[in-house]
Amino acid sequence: MSGGPPTRIDRNPTSYADAGFSRYLRRAFLASAGFDRADLDRAIVGIADTSSDYTTCHRDMPGVVQAVKRGVLEAGALPLVFPTASLAEILLSPTSMLYRNLLAMETEEMIRAQPMDAVVLLGGCDKTVPAQLMAAVSANLPAISVVTGPMMTGSWRGERLGACTDCRGYWSRHRAGEITASEIDEIEQSLCPTGGTCMVMGTASTMACMAEALGLMLPGGATAPSGSGDRLRHAVAAGRRAAELAVQPLRPRDILQPAAFTNALTVLMATSGSTNAIIHLLAIARRAGVSLHLDDVDAVSERVPLLVDCKPAGAGYLEDLHRAGGVPVVLKALAPLLDLSVVGVSGRTLGDLLGEVSPPASWQNTIRTLEAPLGPTGALVTLRGSLAPDGAVIKRAAATPALLRHAGPAVVFESPEDAAARIDDPALAITPQHVLVLRNAGPVGAGMPEAGSLPIPRYLAAAGVRDMVRVSDARMSGTAYGTVVLHCSPEAATGGPLALVRDGDIIELDVAARRIDVRVEDAVLARRRAEFRPPALPERGWRRLYAEHVLPAHLGADLDFLV
Ligand code: FES
Repeated sequence: MSGGPPTRIDRNPTSYADAGFSRYLRRAFLASAGFDRADLDRAIVGIADTSSDYTTCHRDMPGVVQAVKRGVLEAGALPLVFPTASLAEILLSPTSMLYRNLLAMETEEMIRAQPMDAVVLLGGCDKTVPAQLMAAVSANLPAISVVTGPMMTGSWRGERLGACTDCRGYWSRHRAGEITASEIDEIEQSLCPTGGTCMVMGTASTMACMAEALGLMLPGGATAPSGSGDRLRHAVAAGRRAAELAVQPLRPRDILQPAAFTNALTVLMATSGSTNAIIHLLAIARRAGVSLHLDDVDAVSERVPLLVDCKPAGAGYLEDLHRAGGVPVVLKALAPLLDLSVVGVSGRTLGDLLGEVSPPASWQNTIRTLEAPLGPTGALVTLRGSLAPDGAVIKRAAATPALLRHAGPAVVFESPEDAAARIDDPALAITPQHVLVLRNAGPVGAGMPEAGSLPIPRYLAAAGVRDMVRVSDARMSGTAYGTVVLHCSPEAATGGPLALVRDGDIIELDVAARRIDVRVEDAVLARRRAEFRPPALPERGWRRLYAEHVLPAHLGADLDFLV
């Protein structure tokens, strides 16, 4: 036998129909990289690296990689870094969501195919973290999630600002003519002043909080700013803990029990996190074999008030949340509503961990208490009705209260491109009472882009209109706000009721009753359904595979053969 008895590096041998040759060849190539027997006898911690010049949010990730490696080495294991695809929210067309399942599949396969005893998953930008968690569940090797961390805030003319709630707010004012072209150029240069992910409670921050609340991240890891000492120390600690898990496995499916998801949903509601997290949690749960449905989301929503003051539902930023104690203090505040018996990657129960955490301090205002919450229960709620028999989602905490019950005539856009081309056309004569309907933007129709928060028509924005009811099968950014009904399921491209709406049909939203309906007689809808023709699928490649196999939004939009 080559190189002595088999060690951990001999796991998952390359197949040459000769095991001895496989070991001999593997050791020869590892020797070329400077690894000797002492290295190869150690437990191996893989480090999935999503650094990319395209993913500007991850530009501090190389420092995080080095910190994790140091932690792994200090704990006596061997760190081996491997790259995966990186999903840059702002630089991917048509939407990063189209590639979440691709990254999940790639990461799962690389975890399985390469020799490793545990893995540290380095993500950050919106879809990277859910993709990595989905992969971790399916591979079921001990795994710890580490994020690159949020950006620090910038300022413009004395006003504090950050990505990307303020990106949207200033852009809306620019469209309304309140902000000049040169001013918007100045703002553009100030919105993203440091490395890191969007520093509001958008999808990246929400999913980091979800990873921590699920127990797949060490405590305190969700909010430490990118490039900070806190971030690097957390990464070192994660490396050390991963080395321990490599020899005393605690696997994702041991951690992801039903109570872990209920706890995560509790944090989601208390932070008024991104609506996207609902899709991601449904996908992760289905991979973990946990029964989680939109009704479970609503049940949690009804009993959890808003506690955390971060944009877009509040006024603060992630650095404020971190200074106030981050997710551990949020969990402490929520303790009466949580299952404290869950055990995460730390190996300790949540109750045990929270014994070392103080309640929200009186010097800060970012994390409130159950006794004095920031807002009511129901930050995110699910809807059903004739327009969404399988469900839809709305972020009530970021909507206009007066629009939560509204009926108005539909103006229908056939696709995000159609909306972009026509929404400012005065000939449409859109009024604030109209309901903007966008279809063919669901998982099959378009990969489910963040197109649901359609812009207010320019002439209405100029007249001071800031919000309208919008309904679609698309998603919206976690940083966005407005009275926006999302994820209508079944989607239009598969013949869902959204495909049957015509201009002028009355759409009725009643959030208190959890309803979204189209007031059209059944016989008329049946006639329109008989005329429905699904759009053509993409011709080839990943987009074809995706369109043929993606599940609906209310089931998590995973691929049917990966669940
Ligand atoms: Fe990367 Fe917002 S664009 S986190």
